[in-house]
Amino acid sequence: MSVRQYSMLPQNLQVNIPEIDVEHDELFVFLEGFKEYCFEHSPIPQEKRNALYGLLVSHFKTEERLATSASIDFSGHEDAHEKMLETVSQTLGQMASNNSDLYSLIRYISYWFEIHILRYDLTLAKCLSASAH
Ligand SMILES: [Fe+2]
Ligand SMILES: [Fe+2]
Repeated sequence: MSVRQYSMLPQNLQVNIPEIDVEHDELFVFLEGFKEYCFEHSPIPQEKRNALYGLLVSHFKTEERLATSASIDFSGHEDAHEKMLETVSQTLGQMASNNSDLYSLIRYISYWFEIHILRYDLTLAKCLSASAH
């Protein structure tokens, strides 16, 4: 198995399905950009918040497509995605306020994202790898 280098994706969160890892890395890069941005601009403009939400939605569709094409039951994972979108959407909404603690909110999204990868995406990746053999 080739070892790929990602700019922001920690090794313990790599699932070794390149399409998923690349998108996770993009999301971490985007969140890192958010942190830098929030030191200079507050609140974060709606278009930037929408862009993060859009990346997440598109990433969740990728995982659903991969699972469906390998005939893997995705229902529990899909529920987790929906809950995460709700949480992220609420958090992004709080970022619109001038006196919100942006850094904590961004850390909160990163935390949710990491926990999700560990609880759901690693399992999906194992099933995808098993179904490919
Ligand atoms: Fe994911
Ligand atoms: Fe997922």
